[in-house]
Order: sequence, then structure tokens, then C-alpha cells
Amino acid sequence: MSKRMKICINTGGGDAPGLNAVIEAVTMAAYNRQWEVYGIKCGYTGLLNTEEIITLTPEKVNGIASIGGTILGSTNKGNPFMMPICNAAGEWEQRDLSDRVMDNFRRLRFDALVAVGGDGSLEIAHRFAEKGMPVIGVPKTIDNDMGGTVITFGFDTAVTIATEAIDRLHSTAKSHDRIMVVEVMGRNAGFIALNSGISGNADVILIPEIPFDIDKVCDKIMDNELHGHKYGIVVVAEGALPKGGEVITKGSGETGRQHAVLGGIAEYVAKEVSARTGKDSRSMVLGHLQRGGSPTTFDRLLSLRFGAAAVRAIETGKFDHMVALHSPDIALVPLAEALGVQKRVRADGDTVLTARDLGISFGD
Ligand code: F6P
Repeated sequence: MSKRMKICINTGGGDAPGLNAVIEAVTMAAYNRQWEVYGIKCGYTGLLNTEEIITLTPEKVNGIASIGGTILGSTNKGNPFMMPICNAAGEWEQRDLSDRVMDNFRRLRFDALVAVGGDGSLEIAHRFAEKGMPVIGVPKTIDNDMGGTVITFGFDTAVTIATEAIDRLHSTAKSHDRIMVVEVMGRNAGFIALNSGISGNADVILIPEIPFDIDKVCDKIMDNELHGHKYGIVVVAEGALPKGGEVITKGSGETGRQHAVLGGIAEYVAKEVSARTGKDSRSMVLGHLQRGGSPTTFDRLLSLRFGAAAVRAIETGKFDHMVALHSPDIALVPLAEALGVQKRVRADGDTVLTARDLGISFGD
């Protein structure tokens, strides 16, 4: 009989629909092997302050796969290798508290950690693996920018929500002959904008991978006008930028954050379009709506498959790897290999070509 393991799981970084499904699958797959499973609160923070570690049982996780968010909580500020600490002088400084995490992990006699997160959290997981922690990664992000996997869970839900929103904008834009500019998430990757823009019948899609020329955006709008199409939908990724310009940010955000907070590009585009074409334009930002609520069936199933595969990986001792979708199978990819690739929209890829064939402009 194989060893009865004692494993733990955490969820780190921005939440994504499907996290609870991973927790349910890990708990159930472990329970069915007669292993013990523990939930670590708020990413790695719960391994620094261990009072809040909870036991995960079938009763606690039954049915949570359909619920958004994460029952364990998450944070994108808790990197134990660079923890912001307020010193005696009241200044913030970064301290490496990773040894404390290692000590707690060993003291609690965990055999493995399932780390669910995006590139930031899995980078931390990899560093702990290098320190000797048996870790299996589970990639999540609505941005779909993780290397090593065809897709991450959360992405399909975000695209579905964005597409539904764009569908709704058509009627109001048409009623007023307006240009509606809608900003979607994705950080430095344009996958959400591209997929929702094509599916939602946008006129223009602006993505970070194809810097745009605002005059070309206006040309498309005025060309539509000439052909009797007097309203327009522009879908813009939050990380999109004009040729020779900069990504618009709202600053570096809270202390200890790994990434700057992006936002404001839709407002910029709407103002420029109005000024150059004379057409009424409005901007809107979909924001965290894209991350909230139930995962789609696709994301739910992928998350359940990822969670169960992570437990099988622990059983075979394949650590410092992450589960990944290599359609139609779930594969195990070394974390270092996956983290070495930042996935971006290919400007010559089939999806961009499809958009161009449909007459959608990228403002290039
Ligand atoms: O990485 C996921 C993501 O939703 C990005 O698309 C977005 O830029 C960022 O997180 C927002 O972060 P926060 O929830 O901290 O505002």
C-alpha cells in the first residue's frame, strides 16, 4: 500500500473562477487515497502565520466547484522571499522570510504543497522547490499568459463574461450612433480582448502585441460610417498601447504588489476617437466582473482535472512540475520550463488572421 500522505494546498495571486474546483478535486482525490489535506490561507502568508491552516474534508468542499473565488483566500502581495515589513522607523523594507516558511512546512510534517497560481505564485513555488519543498504547481490566470499549457482555467469564464458584455453594448451603441470603447483585462497579453472581440463582433480590437495607430482606428470607424454602419465597438486590452507610446497604469499599487495596476486606455481611446471623428464616444471598463462568479463548464472541468492530476503527480513523486493542458491530455511540465515562457498573442497566428478576415481592424 502506498504511503499515507499529508498534503496542503494554497491559492495565490489574483483569483480566477475555478480555484474552488481545484480545491475540491485535490481534497477528494487525496481523501480517496486516505491522505490528509490542509488548506493554507492567503497564498504563502498562511505558511508564515500557521494558526489559520484548516483541515479540508469532503464535507467542506462538496459542491464548491461551481462557486467563484477561493475558500482559502488569495493575495498578490505575499511573496515570502520579498515580504514588505514595516520597520521600527516606520519605513517599509523587504525581508526574506522563506526559511520561516520552510521551517513551518517541515514542523507541520507536510509531504507536499499544491500551489495554485499564476506566473508570480508559481515562480515562488519553484523557488521553494529549489529549497527542498515538494511542490506541484497548478496554473491559473484569466489572462491565459502562462507558458507550458495550452490554456489556464479562468480564461474561458473571463472571455464569456466579456463577450456577453460586448453583445449588450451593440444595441445601446446602435441606438445612439455611438462608439463604445470597452476595456478588458489581460495585463500584457491580449487573449481576452482578442477572443471576446471576435466573438462579440467588434469593429476594432486593440491588444498589447500589436501597437496601434489611433488614426488607423479612426479610419476604420469613418469607413464604417461611409458604408452606413454608424456605430462602433472597440475592444481594448488594458495593456494595449499606441505605437511608440506607453502602457497606461494607475501606479504601482499597494505595497508589496508584484505588478503595476493597469487601466485607463479605453478612456484615452474614446477621447481621441471623439476628437478626431466628431463622433460621440463612451468608454467603459469591465474590470473585476471578468473574475467574479461561477466558472464556465469548461473552466470547472479543467480545474477539476488539474486538481486530480496534481494529486496523481504527488503520488508518483513528480515535484517541481506543474500540471498543464496538452490537449486532449493533462501533462506535467517542469516549473522552470513553463516559467521561462511568457505566452502572448501571436500577431501572425490563426486567431488574429481570422479577425482580419472578418474585417476587424487592429489599428495597425
Ligand atoms: O492577472 C489577473 C488580473 O485580473 C489582470 O488581468 C489584471 O491586470 C490584474 O489581475 C488586476 O489585479 P488586481 O485584482 O490586483 O486589481
